[in-house]
Amino acid sequence: MDDRSDTKQRGPDVMSDLGADLDALRADAHERLAGSNSAGAVDDLRHELFGRSGKMTSLLRQLASVPADERPAIGQRANDVRRELESAITDRIEELQRSDLEQRLASEAIDMSAPGRPLAIGHLHPVQTLMRDLREILHAFGFEVFEGPEVETEEYNFELLNIPADHPARDLWDTLFVAEPGSVEAGEPKPATDGTILRTHNSPVQVRAMQALSPPIRVLMPGRCFRYEAVDASHAFEFFQVEGLVVDRDTSLADLKGLLEEIARALYGRDVRTRFRPGYYPFTEPSVAFDIGCLVCGGEGCPACKRSGWMTILGAGMVHPTVLRNGGFDPDEYQGYAFGMGPDRMTMLRHGIGDIRLFFSADARFATQFAEGR
Ligand code: PHE
Repeated sequence: MDDRSDTKQRGPDVMSDLGADLDALRADAHERLAGSNSAGAVDDLRHELFGRSGKMTSLLRQLASVPADERPAIGQRANDVRRELESAITDRIEELQRSDLEQRLASEAIDMSAPGRPLAIGHLHPVQTLMRDLREILHAFGFEVFEGPEVETEEYNFELLNIPADHPARDLWDTLFVAEPGSVEAGEPKPATDGTILRTHNSPVQVRAMQALSPPIRVLMPGRCFRYEAVDASHAFEFFQVEGLVVDRDTSLADLKGLLEEIARALYGRDVRTRFRPGYYPFTEPSVAFDIGCLVCGGEGCPACKRSGWMTILGAGMVHPTVLRNGGFDPDEYQGYAFGMGPDRMTMLRHGIGDIRLFFSADARFATQFAEGR
């Protein structure tokens, strides 16, 4: 070993070893380059070859031990291989980056000519649309919105409206009571002793408005009311009313008549036919029912109007003196008129809807037919 340690002796071996190592490294690098499929992997290879302790780096270092006369040739070869691999690596990285980008662009490509997906935009329920229209029509006549509670007392719902307990007129309103606390749990539901009920109409709000406001009063009172009804095509246990009230000096049935005709024309068109019939409500005197010519048959008579040619859309009348007094007014000084409209019914007429239960059906196929609002 000792006598073979001088460079003259080892020179040729070192050189041929170095040459073979260079060839092997070169072939291996090309193979791995061709087989690599990500820029990151090629970068790792670059590190493996050219890093501080990389294979190529250590080969180049070994050049120092090659005999001086042979060094230029092998040095030249080593440099060629280094340059070749460096540029092959750079090219491969670029190539892979380009194809990565192309793939990404292809996967993210947007077809600008494809039709857009429509966004579902909500719209008002047709009954709400009608109530909004009523509000706008009445605004034009100087009416303001006044709201009252859905959970009422018997006093406001009946007594103050001139409907005493035990009066047969109470039969006109099938009431839903609020249960006495604890009675449901005890298995024996009883009406609340404090007389709370779900309001059966919006007329109690008349009294609340009279008590809260000073004349002249012109209010509309929209909201929900509730009745103990067997549900069928024209009856629901929950529905809307829009009540109207005017209290002033010198109002008359003629004012009421004119206003209701204007409302009908604004809602159903100038050519709508209207008529008043005598009616009965304990809280108005005189009372009227207001009909419009059937919109389905044009007045000929059809199943929708029960062959009468007319459809009732509201009840109305001059506020009863007792009710005026309950609201805090002297009936010799003030008069008032009131009307109670059924927007569910009026919406059915507007759109030719044959069954009130559709309004509560939560069926999008029904509701979306009224997307235009009107
Ligand atoms: N409250 C009555 C009902 O529910 C309607 C009505 C309102 C009648 C106002 C006259 C005046 O049937």
